[in-house]
Amino acid sequence: MKPNRFPIPFLFLAILALLAALWAGLMRLGWQLAALTPSLALTHGPLMISGFLGTLITLERAVAMQKKWMYIPSLLSGLGWLVTVLIPSPPLGPILLTLASLGGVAILTEMTRREFALHTGTMLLGMLAWFIGNLLWLFGWQIFQVVFFWQAFLVLTIAGERLELSRVLRPSKNQQIAFGVIAVIFVTSIIVSTLNLQIGTRLNGAALLLLALWSIRSDIAWRNLKHKLPLTRYIARCLALGFVWLGIGGGLSLVFGAQVAGPRYDAILHVVFVGFVISMIFGHAPIIFPAILGVPINFQPAFYIHLTLLHVSLVLRVIADYANLHTLRMWGGLLNEVAILLFIGLTVFSIRKSIVG
Ligand code: HEM
Repeated sequence: MKPNRFPIPFLFLAILALLAALWAGLMRLGWQLAALTPSLALTHGPLMISGFLGTLITLERAVAMQKKWMYIPSLLSGLGWLVTVLIPSPPLGPILLTLASLGGVAILTEMTRREFALHTGTMLLGMLAWFIGNLLWLFGWQIFQVVFFWQAFLVLTIAGERLELSRVLRPSKNQQIAFGVIAVIFVTSIIVSTLNLQIGTRLNGAALLLLALWSIRSDIAWRNLKHKLPLTRYIARCLALGFVWLGIGGGLSLVFGAQVAGPRYDAILHVVFVGFVISMIFGHAPIIFPAILGVPINFQPAFYIHLTLLHVSLVLRVIADYANLHTLRMWGGLLNEVAILLFIGLTVFSIRKSIVG
């Protein structure tokens, strides 16, 4: 493997966005911290979705496709979040982030043109959802009104990747049709949510629950839970736990319906964003980072520390959200962040170890 330093500045912008978003997240939980900039606390969501994950996901695509123009969307989201935080008006930052997501659509259109398949189509839908969500946000829609689009960006991107990586299982025609039907219900739920948030949310919950159930038969993660290689076993556990949270998130939306603020809003969002998305990132990091940087990641048993901490602290946070226990919620959120920071620290350590030897 040949080390590739070109993506490092983009990665740096993505990690910086994550750190700023984590700081803002603590403020939103009620921890008394310096505001840093007037708009930071309010931009936690866009920083996580577009600043961190948008920059990272478009970067991964650009590296895979090896086309220079494909780095532009990653650069736009990396700069877009900085401008959003530093210069809140006029809305230059949201414009840059919207252009970044449009660039993401262009990349996925090209990928789908090259390989027309269920997984590329799913990821293209994910990019479209990111773009539409950003566009609506740019035109002044509230975040609780566009958050389903942002959630769809991440859920469809990850589902498409899982579909691609599970191809070795040769999913049957029926399994592929089932996936397609779930994707249609999911997309329909997002469109419905713009007209009737209550019905859209419950339909969205049903789709997430079905997707989690679909994974049990069709995702290779469930078969690798007892794999003899420690890294494969670790990845499988991250992914399986992620699917469990996806199912829980779906169940909560189905039962409790729409939430627009407060502790239950916190729970419904972060069961999916932290439980599913971050756990998937923990599991995919040993695949993604070597692909981006050209450097392997060696498995460390300590990886289980951040994985365990993430899930235990999320359980505490969700219990606190539903039981209205404010202090426990603050600690649950803080420990979620400690888990993410431990993950970054151990990943950087493991990459350095591979380079230096
Ligand atoms: C890891 C620690 C995290 C903490 C402590 C945290 C904290 C928070 C808090 C307290 C809220 C406000 C909820 C409310 O109104 O009651 C919030 C909203 C939100 N979070 Fe997080 N969050 C975290 C991770 C994430 C992640 C990983 C994502 C996305 C992948 C994310 C995306 C969002 C979004 C989109 C909103 C809605 C923002 C809004 O309505 O303004 N969060 N977060």
